[in-house]
Amino acid sequence: MQKYLLCRHGELTEGQSKGFSLGDSAAGTANVFAVMKNGEVFAYKNNCPHRGINLEWQEDQFLDPDGALIQCASHGALFQIETGECVAGPCAGDALTPVPIEYGRDGIYVLMAD
Ligand code: FES
Repeated sequence: MQKYLLCRHGELTEGQSKGFSLGDSAAGTANVFAVMKNGEVFAYKNNCPHRGINLEWQEDQFLDPDGALIQCASHGALFQIETGECVAGPCAGDALTPVPIEYGRDGIYVLMAD
C-alpha cells in the first residue's frame, strides 16, 4: 500500500467531484476520483464495472445532473456516492472499487496498492 496526497483541505467542496492522477497513472488521466457529500469524502477507482473504462467524458464530471449519484458517461450507470453500489444501468448490483482515505493535518490522503 502506498499513501498519496489526494488534495489539500478545501480543494474538494461540498457536492463536487474531482478526478486525480496518482502513482503511475499517465499525466492528465485520472485513475481515482472523489466526491464530497455532507462533509464526507468518498473516493473510488476511476473504473466502471460495466466495461472497465473511465467513468467521465469531461474533466471532473462524475455526477449526474442533480449531483445525487455518481454517473458513468458511457452508458449511464448510476452509483450511490456513499457505497459505490450501482443502482441503475448495465452493471446494476455491481459496485465501484472504493479507495480508502485518511484525513491528515494538511490534506486528504488515499491508500492505494502499488
Ligand atoms: S462503461 Fe460505464 S456504464 Fe458502460
